[in-house]
Amino acid sequence: MKLLVVGSGGREHALAWKLAQAPRVQLVYVAPGNGGTAQDERLANVDITDIHELADFAEREQIALTVVGPEAPLAAGIVNVFRQRGLKVFGPTKEAAQLESSKDFAKAFMKRHNIPTAAYETFSDAAAAHAYVEKNGAPIVIKADGLAAGKGVVVAMSLEEAHQAIDMMLADNKLGDAGARVVIEEFLAGEEASFIVMVDGKHVLALASSQDHKRLQDGDQGPNTGGMGAYSPAPVVTPQLHARVMREIILPTVAGMEKEGIRYTGFLYAGLMIDAQGNPKTLEFNCRMGDPETQPIMARLKSDFSKVVEQAIAGTLDQVELDWDRRTALGVVMAAYNYPDTPRKGDRISDIPAETEASVTFHAGTQIVDGKLVTSGGRVLCVVGLADSVRSAQNVAYETVNRISFDGMQYRHDIGYRAAGRKQ
Ligand code: AMP
Ligand code: GLY
Repeated sequence: MKLLVVGSGGREHALAWKLAQAPRVQLVYVAPGNGGTAQDERLANVDITDIHELADFAEREQIALTVVGPEAPLAAGIVNVFRQRGLKVFGPTKEAAQLESSKDFAKAFMKRHNIPTAAYETFSDAAAAHAYVEKNGAPIVIKADGLAAGKGVVVAMSLEEAHQAIDMMLADNKLGDAGARVVIEEFLAGEEASFIVMVDGKHVLALASSQDHKRLQDGDQGPNTGGMGAYSPAPVVTPQLHARVMREIILPTVAGMEKEGIRYTGFLYAGLMIDAQGNPKTLEFNCRMGDPETQPIMARLKSDFSKVVEQAIAGTLDQVELDWDRRTALGVVMAAYNYPDTPRKGDRISDIPAETEASVTFHAGTQIVDGKLVTSGGRVLCVVGLADSVRSAQNVAYETVNRISFDGMQYRHDIGYRAAGRKQ
């Protein structure tokens, strides 16, 4: 069978890499893909991004299953279009994707269904937003309602930062329509974890737990990014916490969507904040897998992922049991010069060590130009190491990182430090 993965990041490289391991899978197309998916002979890039053209392609090539990576095509209705045309696709419909594409929708939904989350209010009027912030004080969190490619959340530690964020979104329209409404919410302290499940409309199958590092610099300092590294499993998600998140957050979300007439299918990602007492609250929902969480998660998955996706589309996830590598997988993101602002493109990347049983490098912002691998985006590579402990997995990953170079590269040296018990 031939499969299709939509997207071009490290997440999509990891999904395609895993899907291609199934003996019955002949080829996995990646649209549009990157330099890494271009080099792998079991994968092939397709230069299409328009969702109707993707459906034409899937029909023409008799694609058995399509997996959609990023939120933008999901929010644009790629799943609706594929389904209308009788094509098998795994992901949420446009309506279901509102859990990610509108923070206001997600917050109001959580409130209606008593799903634990930070207290909030929504504003489109700047003066009212400023007054709310004055009343509540800092720290406080300002979030653009719509999709803003990771730039829509400001965790304001001072009132000044909060006012600036409101002006940036509501007065100066720096984020366009995405920032025309803002959610202002209570600051939550604690440790974050990514809780990702697959949903078939009815049944929920949890993937292995994971945690990412969102700040650019060591010790969780510097600006927020899409994610500078991740590992799986995340020890903060104990079996007790796992059960509680399923009971209090995930299952009520799937049931609540159904009750409101929106069947949820696809990956569902709850970003959690776990307080010092171990109580989880939902920071956000994503209607897709995380990037870079997918890279270590896929590196640990031993089951035939093409079958799991097939079962998910058929609505029989209750019959699936996933088999995980017991090792810890830890991924270090190597980012381009000037990420996360305007990353420089075109830097030549040195040779990348071949995949081994303990290490695999997924590409994101890479491209092949005149036969040479060069940078083409902010997050360039995600180097994953697998070993019996977090510390050993760090060693394996960083050994590989040290063998790769490109001008202006930036990476964190401490991915996994919380789990390894190291204090910075
Ligand atoms: P989001 O896209 O909503 O997950 O926000 C991005 C990041 O901002 C999160 O991963 C957190 O690190 C931080 N964040 C979001 N909401 C809050 C909150 N209410 N309190 C503290 N930090 C937050
Ligand atoms: N790594 C965070 C995200 O994918 O949203």
